[in-house]
Amino acid sequence: MPDKFYLTTPIYYVNARPHIGTTYTTVVADAIARRKRSLGIETFFLTGTDEHGQKIERSAEKAGCTPQEFTDRVSAEFRGLWDRMGLTYDDFIRTTEPRHKQAVQKLFALLRDQGYIYKGSYTGQYCVSDEAYVDVPPGAPCPECGRPTETVNEENYYFKLSAFERKLLEFYQEHPEFIEPETRRNEVISFVKSGLRDLSVSRTSFNWGIPVPGDETHVIYVWMDALANYITALGWGSQDPSRYDRFWPADLHIVGKEITRFHCIYWPAFLMAAGLPLPKKVVGHGWLLFEDNKMSKSRGNIVRAETILDTFGAMKPDLPKAEQDRFGADVLRYFLLREVVFGQDGSFSFDALVQRYNSDLANGYGNLVSRTLAMIGRYFGGVVPENSNVPSLVSLTKLAENFTNRAIPLYSERFDDLRFSLALETAWEMVGQLDGIITASAPWKLAAKDDADSRAELAAILYAAAEAIRIITALVYPVIPESAAKVWAQLGQGHITQANLKDLKWGGLKPGTKLGESTPLFPRAEKEAITRMNEMEQKNNPAPAAASEPGNEGKAAHVSKLRSLLDGLAVAASESTNETAAILALESAVAETVREFVSGSEKRAPANPVPVKANPPATVGPATGTPVMPAAPSTGTVAAPAAAPALPEGKISIDDFAKVELRVAQIKVAERVPKADKLLRLEVDLGDETRQILAGIAEAYAPESLIGRKVVIVANLAPRKLRGLESNGMIVAASVAGGRPVLAGFLEDVEVGARLK
Ligand code: MSP
Repeated sequence: MPDKFYLTTPIYYVNARPHIGTTYTTVVADAIARRKRSLGIETFFLTGTDEHGQKIERSAEKAGCTPQEFTDRVSAEFRGLWDRMGLTYDDFIRTTEPRHKQAVQKLFALLRDQGYIYKGSYTGQYCVSDEAYVDVPPGAPCPECGRPTETVNEENYYFKLSAFERKLLEFYQEHPEFIEPETRRNEVISFVKSGLRDLSVSRTSFNWGIPVPGDETHVIYVWMDALANYITALGWGSQDPSRYDRFWPADLHIVGKEITRFHCIYWPAFLMAAGLPLPKKVVGHGWLLFEDNKMSKSRGNIVRAETILDTFGAMKPDLPKAEQDRFGADVLRYFLLREVVFGQDGSFSFDALVQRYNSDLANGYGNLVSRTLAMIGRYFGGVVPENSNVPSLVSLTKLAENFTNRAIPLYSERFDDLRFSLALETAWEMVGQLDGIITASAPWKLAAKDDADSRAELAAILYAAAEAIRIITALVYPVIPESAAKVWAQLGQGHITQANLKDLKWGGLKPGTKLGESTPLFPRAEKEAITRMNEMEQKNNPAPAAASEPGNEGKAAHVSKLRSLLDGLAVAASESTNETAAILALESAVAETVREFVSGSEKRAPANPVPVKANPPATVGPATGTPVMPAAPSTGTVAAPAAAPALPEGKISIDDFAKVELRVAQIKVAERVPKADKLLRLEVDLGDETRQILAGIAEAYAPESLIGRKVVIVANLAPRKLRGLESNGMIVAASVAGGRPVLAGFLEDVEVGARLK
């Protein structure tokens, strides 16, 4: 395994404040950096801000301050947020720093001296937002972002990009691993194959940039300036290039998909021209979407990480502020790495964030850790018990050992392949398996017995649980570092940042280890948290941008489409009831259009094209155009619903079954009901609410054995009173020999609240 690793994020433009899109890239990089370090690899993680260019100059002007004041302020916001989140970057480069400026001038001079830069004049279109030259006629918008382009007519310095066409193609061929994922690789290759033109690398119409050495009326093109940060931060071109010598070439540049071209074409070409080694890999990830769009100020759909840090941090009022922040950061990190498939676009919503948190962190990992450590506390005085080989339990403890030993390489392979979501799935499968093993071996029953065999069995099962938790914790540390560090300390393992997690294997937990102080890990998030976060962002996002801004131009068209759809809906609805399919389709089309209208989306294809006829009523089916409901018959008309066929004796219809709402619930509280031998009073969590249920299972289950267990309940049973207490629902159980109830459960981990169908 290589002994060093250098990874970078893009440097962020300071014209916008950080949001969870920019946070996403930085969090991914931080997770990778933490994992490398935990494996004993010397790691250098670089991030920073990109502060020059016309766009920044204009933003400063708008804000009424100098570009330097403006960039100082926004750059500090980026850095401040990364610090609040506990991100472990090793250096934060700003392109306005002298160390960077002088090295960029050196690079420019070197390329000029090598004959790769010459003077010429440029007339063409320029996109200020992307800081890119674009090949479109005057007046046409930018093909990348859709914003208006400006005509530039300047005397410029040119970089001989065309000289690198063949060399670049050869390089991609020899190093297929250079660009990931494959789709981005194909895009880049076909772009280069279509022919490269020389690139203008200086501007004269504004000043906010690094002057061209020896010709200060020009400033260096912002992408040449920015890309060079990856070597200038290491001291290339300075008095002390030792870091450059140690870490260059970079092992991994992590970038958003929209800037892979700059990193995979311009950057290697500049390096080739300078005679410097090329980076080993560029990975282009997808976008984080909010309300179906890439976040942007003009769309007013920005979500800030601070909202999440504040909301989740407030759930732990007893912690110092810095720890609250890092706890909130864990919640966001887990969501981003688990929910978004790295490389693809992913959607963000507060609902999904809270759901993931409750199901995987609060109910899953958190619950497993607290119930295991509480039992070790209660039954073994907080000392890790002996891992005795108990014949009656061998199969269960071996099962835990085996799946853990299988999961370690699988998790590692997936994580190191940047398939974070899958890696985390593996870890949470372990959580589910372990929950099942604990429930099946019922330590509380063993604890109630007095004999030596039961004691040994209890020790073996709790040792296995604690050891599996230790390993899960080591694996997920890069993703939820703050929480994992707490669990690590609770397991009596000291500081996780100082641990070498390289040779993880079963048996590393020493019996006799004294557990650390146990603190609650993941309090449940209530529904109000979602409302609060939504409100915070609504306040933060400015009123919708002016109609001339991108994303809004099409709103008039949406309004008229909406009107015509509503007309169609009214016509269809006024006709006979057999038009249900058409009405539903229209409703969904209207909803889609409203969503588009609200989010200002220009990119998505229009909603299902619904054939709307003003009169006669809309009939749908292949004959009339696009079928909108699969149920539409091929005749082109929607048939009237036939009378329901009579059901065979004793059978119910699927509709009858659908009336029974069966859902997964988790037992939070279980206690006996005074003077009722058979009854237990349970409080169960349904994800969106907590219920009280009275269940006649007291003779079969000890109340403490039920805490944390996931069960199936009939959720829409009318409430009834038993012994003066209201029961809201019924727990589903099999009735076995002698009428003993056996609770229904699942072999896999299931989300609390999930509906059984
Ligand atoms: N300054 C250039 C990069 C120069 S690197 C030598 C730039 N800056 S940026 O601020 O506009 O975007 C930087 C990166 O932020 C993107 O490439 C991407 O990694 C990340 N993201 C910005 N918005 C994002 C989302 N909505 N979703 C995911 N990542 C996003 O381009």
